[in-house]
Amino acid sequence: MNYNWDASTYDHISDVIESWGLEILAQRRWKGDEIVLDAGCGVATLTKKLSKLVPHGRVIGIDIDPAMIKFARTKLANSNNTQVIRGDILEMRFHSEFDVIFSNAVLHWISDHKKVFDLFLHALKADGQILIQCGGYGNLAKSLEIFDRIKNSSQFRNYFEDQNGERVWTKPWYFPRKEDVEILLRDTGFTHIHVFMENKIANLGNKKDYSLYIRTIVLRPYLEYLQNEQLKKSFVDSIIYEIDDSIPELRWKLDYVRLNIFANKKNN
Ligand SMILES: C[S@@+](CC[C@H](N)C(=O)[O-])C[C@H]1O[C@@H](n2cnc3c(N)ncnc32)[C@H](O)[C@@H]1O
Repeated sequence: MNYNWDASTYDHISDVIESWGLEILAQRRWKGDEIVLDAGCGVATLTKKLSKLVPHGRVIGIDIDPAMIKFARTKLANSNNTQVIRGDILEMRFHSEFDVIFSNAVLHWISDHKKVFDLFLHALKADGQILIQCGGYGNLAKSLEIFDRIKNSSQFRNYFEDQNGERVWTKPWYFPRKEDVEILLRDTGFTHIHVFMENKIANLGNKKDYSLYIRTIVLRPYLEYLQNEQLKKSFVDSIIYEIDDSIPELRWKLDYVRLNIFANKKNN
């Protein structure tokens, strides 16, 4: 998987995703001295907000994408209780270091949730808490149906198949069911488990902003299969045309389903 994010554009357009992350942060009564991990910190907008919630604590952001990390370091240049590390969540080796692990809009990019929760449990202090939001079952279902329709059209399908006609396209996301996450958390050893789904419509307002948003975030995995700028533009334009022409309910909206995950490490 190519983690080649356009960090600067993401920073401009990610308000809606960040606002949902802020709702998750508001669920905790902060003491102000917690040591926090922001797993998949991106451009660090929420890492910065977190640093203000824990003025006597510390926030460590980790992200796999070099462009995101570079942007995050600039954003946090004047903050004295934050640090960002470039690295894969699946490779992290923290042991009993954090009071809180926060993660917003990241876990659906990782398929091995068993490993993630094992690593999170290991990284937390006793009684530490996870505060997570990610895509849940059914996330973007209507939107992905349209994107797949264009992907499978005669104009584009060759780019998503290998020469033997076998499909090479694989969805890079995992949108789990609430029940599956609850079982996994219990089996991993978490307690005080609270998991719930929410339908969240992101209204991007107009065609231009919708187009930039899907190009930067949701369509990234599709566009990696298209070799040049002209093809990528043509793919995005075809989606816009399809929605404008015949799908009024998706003008200019994305049908997000979010999974909110709260749990604690046992106190012994
Ligand atoms: C949609 S962005 C969310 C960024 C930020 N949390 C926010 O709320 O704006 C997803 C981020 O997850 C990061 N990511 C995905 N898989 C990762 C992994 N295995 N390890 C670390 N970071 C990862 C990406 O590089 C990207 O910065």
